Amino acid sequence: MQAIPEIHADADALADAAVAKILGWLGDNHGRFSICLSGGSTPKRLYERMAKLPLPFDRIHWFFGDERCVPPGDAKRNETMVRAALLDHVPAPEANIHAIPVTASPAESAVAYEATLKAYYGQDVLDAGRPLFDLMLLGLGSDGHTASLFPGKPALAVTGHWAVSSEAGLDPFVPRVTLTFPAIASSRHTVFLVSGADKQVMLKRALAGDDLPAARVTSIGSIEWLVDKAAIGQTA
Ligand code: 6PG
Repeated sequence: MQAIPEIHADADALADAAVAKILGWLGDNHGRFSICLSGGSTPKRLYERMAKLPLPFDRIHWFFGDERCVPPGDAKRNETMVRAALLDHVPAPEANIHAIPVTASPAESAVAYEATLKAYYGQDVLDAGRPLFDLMLLGLGSDGHTASLFPGKPALAVTGHWAVSSEAGLDPFVPRVTLTFPAIASSRHTVFLVSGADKQVMLKRALAGDDLPAARVTSIGSIEWLVDKAAIGQTA
């Protein structure tokens, strides 16, 4: 099925639109609110904007859709980027920041993260009527990957776990931990943020529903594609 994207002028307008949506969803919800963050470069503008807003930080819980298994503080870690752009500048309780841990091996990290997710959710089985995440932010890689679910890699087929170790198909070629499709699907609102002309080919294919990891994302809630003109190939 062809997905219809919401098109914004440029990367800044894209980030502004995402902020407006998030503020609306936070306003509709008065309890704890779980946000699963994506890595890469596109969401940085969104995170920097969120850092300047008086969000209800005491009730927001931050999770990560994937992580690069490098030492804490390494610039390649998504956590490092997210802390520098957002979390270091706001009164987010450390107990609400659920980073993917650095452990002896990526497999151990995935097991530990799955335990963290299950503890937050309060049960070991995902319920189709109760999303794990209120908001799932995702990106699109130039090879069609999302989170660290890369084309042709074994992690794509994992359905019995919420998090798994995975192999990178693109730079940085470091081991990864990623949420699996079933965990990603347990989200109230899913938003793909796609910016830049280098995404044109894959974005077209993903929206058309080609067999790419990003196009295989399903959800018990809504899925929206927020893209900029460069990514969709509009010049004016
Ligand atoms: C990661 C990501 C990844 C990302 C895409 C798009 O850790 O690499 O979470 O899935 O969202 O690669 O990244 P860009 O925004 O940098 O293009």
